[in-house]
Amino acid sequence: MSNVIAVVNPKGGVGKTTSVLNIAAGLLRYSDITSSVLTIDMDPHGCLSSALLGKVDGTPSSRTIFDILRRAITPQDGITSTVFQENIDILPASPHLESMAKTQIYDRLKKVTAALSSAYGWILIDTPPNMGVLTMNALAAADYVLVPTPINGLSVGTLRKLKADLEAIKSNQNELLQMLGILVTMKDARTKLDEKLVTEVEEVFGTDALFQTHITTNTKVEEAPGAFQSIYSYDSSCVGATLYRDFLKKEMLSRLKTLEKRRAELIEARY
Ligand SMILES: Nc1ncnc2c1ncn2[C@@H]1O[C@H](COP(=O)(O)OP(=O)(O)OP(=O)(O)O)[C@@H](O)[C@H]1O
Ligand SMILES: [Mg+2]
Repeated sequence: MSNVIAVVNPKGGVGKTTSVLNIAAGLLRYSDITSSVLTIDMDPHGCLSSALLGKVDGTPSSRTIFDILRRAITPQDGITSTVFQENIDILPASPHLESMAKTQIYDRLKKVTAALSSAYGWILIDTPPNMGVLTMNALAAADYVLVPTPINGLSVGTLRKLKADLEAIKSNQNELLQMLGILVTMKDARTKLDEKLVTEVEEVFGTDALFQTHITTNTKVEEAPGAFQSIYSYDSSCVGATLYRDFLKKEMLSRLKTLEKRRAELIEARY
């Protein structure tokens, strides 16, 4: 059974895709749970697909998640190998996903992840910068949600809205959805986090929601996807690689163990 993680933030350019790439690669390198990772690109812009498939011009793939969602092909037929050194698979994006954004279909992706759950240890879903139908599908399919954010651009209003959206998903589509946490990205290494904002984040999402490891702004992190590599193969000793590795090994994997136990309890209480 896979752990399904949706990477979500309705704001654009906050490090969602970068985090999906580096966490997917990191899970293959540093997680002992299993070595198989599938990524799903639910963003019609397809930045994750371009990086993982080594596409300079961003031409869409011939078999995409859109074809799977509209049931033209099976989930298995959409699985595409990537050019990354790590053994990551992808269900690539399509610009046609935009047309699905106009529908009211929320549960289609859940069926796709369920169908592939036994084949992968991890499924990571990248989402577009809005809380529309495509992101809702990701949240309905996910066990856990990770929110990357450059904290200085974060407002309490945005946080409260996000919390309300997650609660709505839990009530309507996915009662087992759990918050994995908030990952600070693109932080200026010299600037301290605003204490007031930290308190506000803790008020909304709980005291342990914010991960202690902060990904600082790092040129190598920005360059690696353009070279079609994870940060670990691009420069394994750079600050960005160290931080993503620390986040994964010291925080994310142990947090997931706790949440998995909680999930098992919730399932037991339910049935
Ligand atoms: N730690 C970092 N240091 C420097 N640049 C970064 C870092 N993380 C992300 N970036 C850069 O910031 C930009 C936005 O990142 P990314 O594409 O991951 O965000 P996103 O949330 O997926 O954006 P969108 O919502 O548009 O899909 C990219 O150019 C990326 O290379
Ligand atoms: Mg993105």
